[in-house]
Amino acid sequence: MVTPPKKPRARPEAARAETLRAAIRRHERLYYVEDAPEISDAEFDALMRELLELEAAHPELAVPDSPTRRVGGEPQDAFPRAPHELPMLSLENANGAEELEAWIERAAKSADDPDAMACVAELKIDGLSVSLRYEDGVLVRGATRGDGSVGEDVSVNLRTVREIPLRLSGRSLPGELIVRGEVYMTRSGFQRLNASREEAGEPPFANPRNAAAGSVRQLDARITAGRPLHFFAYTLLGSDAIRQSEGLERLAGWGFPVNPEWRRFEDRGSLVAHCLEWQERRHELDYEIDGVVVKIDDLDQQATLGATSKHPRWAVAFKFPAEEATTVVREIMVTVGRTGKLTPTAVLEPVDVSGVTVQMAGLHNEDEVLRKDVRVGDTVVVARGGEVIPQVVRVIVEKRPRGTRRFRMPQRCPECGAEIVRLEGEVAHRCPNASCPAQLRERILHWGGRGAMDVDGLGDMLARQLVEKEVIRDLADLYDLDVETLAGLERMGELSASNLVAALERSKGRGLRHVLYGLGIRHVGASAAAALADAFGSMEAILAADRESLEGVEGIGPTLAESVAEFLGARENRAVVRRLAEHGVDMTAPERSAPSGPLAGKTFVVTGTLASHSRSAATAEIEARGGKVAGSVSKKTDYVVAGESPGSKLDKARKLGIEVLDEAAFLDLLRSG
Ligand code: IVH
Repeated sequence: MVTPPKKPRARPEAARAETLRAAIRRHERLYYVEDAPEISDAEFDALMRELLELEAAHPELAVPDSPTRRVGGEPQDAFPRAPHELPMLSLENANGAEELEAWIERAAKSADDPDAMACVAELKIDGLSVSLRYEDGVLVRGATRGDGSVGEDVSVNLRTVREIPLRLSGRSLPGELIVRGEVYMTRSGFQRLNASREEAGEPPFANPRNAAAGSVRQLDARITAGRPLHFFAYTLLGSDAIRQSEGLERLAGWGFPVNPEWRRFEDRGSLVAHCLEWQERRHELDYEIDGVVVKIDDLDQQATLGATSKHPRWAVAFKFPAEEATTVVREIMVTVGRTGKLTPTAVLEPVDVSGVTVQMAGLHNEDEVLRKDVRVGDTVVVARGGEVIPQVVRVIVEKRPRGTRRFRMPQRCPECGAEIVRLEGEVAHRCPNASCPAQLRERILHWGGRGAMDVDGLGDMLARQLVEKEVIRDLADLYDLDVETLAGLERMGELSASNLVAALERSKGRGLRHVLYGLGIRHVGASAAAALADAFGSMEAILAADRESLEGVEGIGPTLAESVAEFLGARENRAVVRRLAEHGVDMTAPERSAPSGPLAGKTFVVTGTLASHSRSAATAEIEARGGKVAGSVSKKTDYVVAGESPGSKLDKARKLGIEVLDEAAFLDLLRSG
């Protein structure tokens, strides 16, 4: 297992130390770079321990590229200055396909042979760039970028990063070499690190990039050594390679981790398509990327193009639109939903998040606000994800002004003043007053919303007035509205009044699934409503059904069945349903023909965010192939499609042993059908 050193030294300790170093280097490479370990962690630790002891007993044996440097030594007072022999430039940005095409066009014009301008596209890793200097194959210095001409010497820290080779082996190794690349943290490593920091009462890092940068710039390298840092090399300087692509191949050959997703393109159209593809696929990776770097492959062409003082003319960063932004919380507003649930929402200083102005962010419930400890006045990171309303990702605690207070849920309903309750075992706080105007207003808005009865023109302002002026006391009253009454309301003319009456009339024909969804029964989403409508065919049948037969329906679990039974069991709700029917609201489901198609008989549950499809588009694709989509996972589920940030449905699927499809597998399935 341990290979003997080539040139045995005179002293046995020296020889043993060298043997150990060679073995440890080899095993590190097998483990960290090739992902093919040959020995156990314990065996590896034993080799490392022996070498540490040997070097401690004989300090003269400690060489700068010893693997023991991986554990980090005594803390430093400050980082030495590290002037860069060749400046570390930054990249010009191209936002969007058009700007990228324009850049390629311009670069091609200046290249000697515009037709032969091949480019390499590499993922733009969102970490911290470093420059590594190797002399005779040994890492002698590692530096941060700093201002581009002088960085910080973080050699001690970078030696602790396992994926950075301390000594190179392989063919055509030049005597002096500079390798540049990105130190980064994986998303999963970042989450684990933050979880343990929070447990220890330490402030979490805002994102993987900050965590990586903070870890590399630790004066105590033992701390760096304990952080899950990784490295990708992307620039080779000082070799005789004639192309960037060749440089990447050499780096990989010498034992550097090189991001495997780089591609060489001769055709511009495919290059642009590739960049756009990664914009969609970025979430598939366990590390963050913020763009694709496009580099002219030929190094002679690069030299011809040269650089400005800031950035090279032979490379460009195709930047993805940021999906996160930082802003300030003006207020935490508490709204009452249609079921009486109180929802805190952050009212923000308006901020642009990938082209959309965001001024509200969801905070879910009191526990969530307290967990993130969001306070009025805080600077927060907001993100647009799969959710309808953007979310507060985290607070930047360092920017918190003085005198802020922890959030508390109000004790009285902000709309009707009723005393708020929090039921045993529930996270939600509720207003218990069934005639709370806020609840009715929300029920009306939900009834008129898309996916429900889709009543054009039934907006927030109108619903507010209808409730405040007591024109409407329940949903069925909507169908008593006439043009005269409506036209008498603020901001309503004759025309909009008659349009609304017509829209209400049209809504009567939507059918049972829309009615069931529109009633706003707790837990009944669009897919549960559709499942119930399809299974029973009419409201009458559902009203007659008991809990057990409700639960017998695919996609309907006990909580849902209970909630439906409870809602339809209440006298006032039954009365509303009856009056709606009297007004001519269709309470039947169209006769179902037996589903056909490649996915017939298969039930799907979709969880998390898919890059390629919205929830409803994914549902439509499945249904178009004869499959069914349910809202919750049960033994009856055939597939769970898990996108980005899947929730508990994924855990449940795993527990029940249900087949889980990631986005790629889901797309394959759709394609094959
Ligand atoms: S090449 C002069 N390649 O992006 C060319 N940079 O603003 C310099 N980055 O500071 C860099 N992935 O931190 C290059 N594959 C990649 C990269 C990459 C990430 C970072 C790097 C640099 C910044 C450019």
